[in-house]
Amino acid sequence: MLELGVNREVKIMCGIVGYVGNKSAVDILLEGLTNLEYRGYDSAGIAVNPEGVVKLYKAEGKLQNLKDIVEKNYGEISKSTIGIGHIRWATHGAPTVANAHPHTCNCGKVAIVHNGIIENFKELREKLEKQGCTFRSQTDTETVAHLVATKFAQTKDLTEAVRLATKEIEGAYALCVIHQDVKNTIVATRRNAPLLVGLGENEYYIASDVPAIIQHTKKAMYIDDNQIVTVTPNSIRLIDEENNLIQGKIETLPWEPVALSKMGYKHFMLKEIHEQPDVVRNVLSGKLRAIDEPITLNEVTLDKETLKNLNRIQIVACGTSLHAAMVGKYIIEDFCGISVDVEPSSEYIYRKTITDKNTLVIGVSQSGETADTITAVRQAKAKGSHILIVTNRPDSTMAREANSLVPVYAGIEVSVAATKSYMAQLISFYLLAIYIAETKGVSKDELSDLKRELIVLPQKIEKILAHKEDIQKCARAFSSSKDFIFIARGVNFATALEGALKLKEISYINATGYTAGELKHGPIAMLDETMPVLSILMKGKVYDKILSNSEEARARNARMIALTDSDDVKLNELFECIIRIPEISEILSPALAVVPLQLLAYYIAEFLGKDVDQPRNLAKSVTVE
Ligand code: F6R
Repeated sequence: MLELGVNREVKIMCGIVGYVGNKSAVDILLEGLTNLEYRGYDSAGIAVNPEGVVKLYKAEGKLQNLKDIVEKNYGEISKSTIGIGHIRWATHGAPTVANAHPHTCNCGKVAIVHNGIIENFKELREKLEKQGCTFRSQTDTETVAHLVATKFAQTKDLTEAVRLATKEIEGAYALCVIHQDVKNTIVATRRNAPLLVGLGENEYYIASDVPAIIQHTKKAMYIDDNQIVTVTPNSIRLIDEENNLIQGKIETLPWEPVALSKMGYKHFMLKEIHEQPDVVRNVLSGKLRAIDEPITLNEVTLDKETLKNLNRIQIVACGTSLHAAMVGKYIIEDFCGISVDVEPSSEYIYRKTITDKNTLVIGVSQSGETADTITAVRQAKAKGSHILIVTNRPDSTMAREANSLVPVYAGIEVSVAATKSYMAQLISFYLLAIYIAETKGVSKDELSDLKRELIVLPQKIEKILAHKEDIQKCARAFSSSKDFIFIARGVNFATALEGALKLKEISYINATGYTAGELKHGPIAMLDETMPVLSILMKGKVYDKILSNSEEARARNARMIALTDSDDVKLNELFECIIRIPEISEILSPALAVVPLQLLAYYIAEFLGKDVDQPRNLAKSVTVE
């Protein structure tokens, strides 16, 4: 048994789904959980109330294990028209049945599912144990189940019990609660974790994210921090933490159920890579209308005066979004002449930064729920900085912190490995850089050239997608490599890092990106005939430099791969494999060069038989530090 303090249950983007209405709940719950499955999880469970008794069904591992258990008891379970479900992804504490959600209290009448972390769970648990509560799991969530049960014993009102319980809990949570004695009622609440209610005909859905309910309804109400919602088949009531009634806003969800289908592709990742030409068109649509018209970013409120007073820009992000930010730095500095720093959010939040009201802080996040980036932008906001958020989820927690918003509209990204959202972030940075340059009054022919090139970019990506043979050949030739080095310079250094990240996260091959000039300062010692070196050789300022760095690597017998828009035949002597892509300006080349690298990673992982869409140990959104 682990010690309480150590065994803090940490959930990274678990999934919640709830249903109350006139249909059988179980299929809706399992379908909802299936649609959240891509986020990564290691156990699952549901609670239903088929015949006046709350019953829990839980399983370790894949959702199929839970489905098998449900199948055996389907006759009974399917009678329930209310239920809550959960998938849990744990980094601490075993992914056992006992730790899987839902959790319950001593008498078993309360069932609760939870995303987030209850930070003071240890103290709460000690207190509750003294009051006679018996714990069956090692989780923080179980404390909430017992706490709600004790409050319910005092108030006989489930909403009030949840409200009083949340006053005592610290940390982040989205909670969904049912009680055996309160028929056909779900109570849900949140603090720093996403939660929404879907509205149907005499039915309500609760979810931690849109995919769980989009098959059933596009009408939804987002719940804000500390609000508590109570739903029955024909009523919805929203209150704040002080019990004041609130009028929730009903929105139409901008997602299509088709986003959750593979559309004939073997994996979501491959489908999403192929969606990139349309993603670029979507991002440009309505923003880049004509070469001689300024870029329109409707939700960006940076005026000339604010831009004039800006001392610096800081961009915070994690993982793939961080790589998009690195390209962003390069182009904003190039076009706008403003100094830009890029930093992983997890570093930014633990140091004294030079951030003030004359700093523009840009948070970049596909999900808009990455905990470190949310903390970073909140810290910057507290210092008076203008906050601009670039996100695929304008409905996210991060978006709500924004003074200016750039929604990237890549559509739901199901594969854990980010591809089309990276593309959408890159294009958004090009538009943002042009927007800032135009607002500042910088008049440059280069801006018009870039706009022209952006418009034809989708066709160039389509060309790569139509001729994948060289990439597949290269993947086959190198799939048994244990290590990989990616080299590039300038604006494509981020592309090297992103190519390496894609490869390592889905194929588990050790891959590192280096600025090519750094190779001889250490990494070159690793080169021999077993080491593949992939050079990103895009025509422009640094082409010759990377070529000579590649020659240095070749001289150490490394196995050389080129990714290039050059048709120079001399490359044939130097490189064992050449992936040629359409010609493009150096500044825009990251948006094209990344596509073959995504495909290379995909095909290598596929040859190796890896779980491409759900790589081990990873979750789609990292909602805790
Ligand atoms: C890699 C990947 C991650 C995310 C990172 C940040 O393919 O997807 O590295 O980019 O976890 O997530 P967001 O962008 O949601 O903040």
